[in-house]
Amino acid sequence: MESAVLKRRPSRVWAVGGGKGGVGKSAISSNLGVALARRGYRTVLVDADLGGANLHTMVGVPAPSRSLTELFTRAAGNLSEVIVPTGIPNLDLISGAHALLDMANPKHLQKQKIIRQLFTLDADIVLLDLSAGTSFTTIDFFLAAHEPIVVVIPTPTSIENAYHFLKAAFYRRLKGAIVRSGAGPLVDVALEQKLARGIRSPRELIRHITELDAVAGAAIAGEMTRLRPKLIVNQIRRQEELTLGEQMADACRDFFGVEMNFLGGIHNDDRVVYSIQLKRPALEAYPHSPFAMAIEGLALRLLAQHKEGDNE
Ligand SMILES: Nc1ncnc2c1ncn2[C@@H]1O[C@H](COP(=O)(O)OP(=O)(O)OP(=O)(O)O)[C@@H](O)[C@H]1O
Ligand SMILES: [Mg+2]
Repeated sequence: MESAVLKRRPSRVWAVGGGKGGVGKSAISSNLGVALARRGYRTVLVDADLGGANLHTMVGVPAPSRSLTELFTRAAGNLSEVIVPTGIPNLDLISGAHALLDMANPKHLQKQKIIRQLFTLDADIVLLDLSAGTSFTTIDFFLAAHEPIVVVIPTPTSIENAYHFLKAAFYRRLKGAIVRSGAGPLVDVALEQKLARGIRSPRELIRHITELDAVAGAAIAGEMTRLRPKLIVNQIRRQEELTLGEQMADACRDFFGVEMNFLGGIHNDDRVVYSIQLKRPALEAYPHSPFAMAIEGLALRLLAQHKEGDNE
C-alpha cells in the first residue's frame, strides 16, 4: 500500500561510491548498515550495483527472489515491495541481484522514480552501495544522496578513478546548475575566454561566470557548495598512507572549490576476506577486528553529521 511507505520524517540517503572496482564499497556499506541497525536506526541497504550485485551475500542473505530488477521489468511498481529482511534487527535489504544485462543504464524516468522513492522509504537511513565506474546512473544516485561517500584505496589506479568519479559528479551537477540558472550562453562566453583569462579549473570557471553575471554565478556557486562528498581511505597498510585523505581533500578544494570531508581510514584486515567467505558481516563474525572497530568509528562520525542534517 502506498500509504505504508510514507513516513513522518523523511529518510536520509547515504551513498557509497568511488569509481574503482574492488576498493571495498560493498564491504564498507554492508557493515556500516549493521552498525547503524545495532544502534537502533532503521536502515535499508540498497544494492545499487545493477550490473554485478552481491550485497546480499555480504549480509548473509541468500539471493532474494525480489530485487530492483522487478522495478525495471514492471513486476513490482514500488520500491517498498522489493524490501527483504536480513534477519538482523532494524536492517532490511533491497537487492539488485537478478540484474538484466542492459540494466547498468536504466531509462531516465525509471531511474528518477527509483531515486524519488528512495527518499520516501519507511526508514531512518537508506544506504546505497554503488557500482564501480562513472555511469550516469551511478553518478545520479551519488548526487541525489544527502551523504555522498567516496571510498579510495592507496593505489595510483584507485586514486585516479576516484578523481574521475568526483570530476564526473562535479560536472554533472555543474551542468544542471548552469541550466537551472539560465546562464548557458554566459558559460559559452566564459569558456571561449578560458585561455585568455587563464581559467584552468572548474573553480576558476565559476568565479569568472560570477564576474560576468553575479546572480547566475551566485546561484551556481551555491548549488556547487552544497556538494560535500565524504572520503574514506580503505585498505591502508602503512600509517603514512592516511595522509592521502587530506591530500585528496586539499586537491578537491583547490581544483573544484568543493569541500570534501575526510572521514578516516580503514586498515587492511584479512578478517574482511574471511567474513565474506563465511557469508557473514565482519561486524558479526569478527566484532573486535580492526576493520569492525574502524567501521564503528565511521558510523559514529557519520551519525554525528546525520543529526546535524536533521536540523537542516
Ligand atoms: N579493509 C579491508 N581489508 C582487507 N580486505 C578488504 C578490505 N576492504 C575490502 N576488502 C576486500 O576487497 C575485496 C573487494 O571488496 P568489495 O567487494 O567490498 O569492493 P567493491 O568496491 O564493492 O567492489 P565492486 O566495485 O566490484 O563492487 C573483497 O574481497 C573484500 O574482502
Ligand atoms: Mg561492490
